[in-house]
Amino acid sequence: MGQGEKSGKLVCKVKNLHLEYDGNVLVDDFTTTIMRGDKIGIVGPNGAGKTTLIKALLDMSDDEVTKTGSVELGTNLKIAFFDQLRDQLDLEASVAQNVSEGSDFVEVGGRKTHIMSYLQDFLFAPERARTPVKALSGGERNRVLLAKQLLKPANILVLDEPTNDLDMATLELLEESVASFGGTILLISHDRSFMDNVVTSTWVFDQDEDGKGIVKEYVGGYQEYLVQKNREQAAHALEHQPIMQILPVKLPIRQPQQNLTKLPKSSTSMNSVNWTIYQKKSLH
Ligand SMILES: Nc1ncnc2c1ncn2[C@@H]1O[C@H](COP(=O)(O)OP(=O)(O)OP(=O)(O)O)[C@@H](O)[C@H]1O
Ligand SMILES: [Mg+2]
Repeated sequence: MGQGEKSGKLVCKVKNLHLEYDGNVLVDDFTTTIMRGDKIGIVGPNGAGKTTLIKALLDMSDDEVTKTGSVELGTNLKIAFFDQLRDQLDLEASVAQNVSEGSDFVEVGGRKTHIMSYLQDFLFAPERARTPVKALSGGERNRVLLAKQLLKPANILVLDEPTNDLDMATLELLEESVASFGGTILLISHDRSFMDNVVTSTWVFDQDEDGKGIVKEYVGGYQEYLVQKNREQAAHALEHQPIMQILPVKLPIRQPQQNLTKLPKSSTSMNSVNWTIYQKKSLH
């Protein structure tokens, strides 16, 4: 990945952002700050508003989307996109023309490299590199876009479902490039392991009681988010339990410790806990 000049420390400051499409509130009252080097994963169901949110943050919203609140962008932002629409290729032009914009040479890691040699790293033999993009398969088109995007001297990388339809070779190329990228990353993905390898915080689309979309922030990758969510749900369940009468029940006698070593591994954990069980009886 071309590492552009650093952006300013502050990348994006969002206050009370509200996004609506056709009467549906996709995002309500979202406030956050993105700093240089943040690696943010965005998750949520199809149609929740992930792509719409990213566009709103980068001042690329469609006219049909109603946007209120404020988004303040930092200085010297150079953005590279790898998006699910893959609409950044000129279908009539060849692979090579798309990637180098007509030039015979490209700059890779500060070195001048022939376009045909660069494209071989992306598994395009010279003949294939001269083929118009319209004649390529979906997987090949993804590789063209990757080769093109990785040349850009970017300091923000935006990936919208980047792993969809990628073959293994391209996926590996992408993972390596993203892992070594020092700038800011916004990543939308349903690929949990890719997400976990990349991000350090996670934004999750949820809904409030009125069905409005809300975005919650969690520290850590997707796995850590799941753990935190389980904890939240357990706390919520406790808070909203009906009033219970707690009655002690007869406890099984605890196994003496010396017998435990003879038990199979799975039952050890069962027996080593102190069996404190209460029967919960509703008052209704
Ligand atoms: N310009 C637009 N034209 C038509 N529909 C739009 C437009 N912008 C947003 N929407 C609608 O807003 C909702 C959110 O769309 P968005 O593409 O942001 O969802 P998403 O979370 O990225 O979904 P996916 O996971 O399928 O990519 C959808 O119902 C979509 O149809
Ligand atoms: Mg999307």
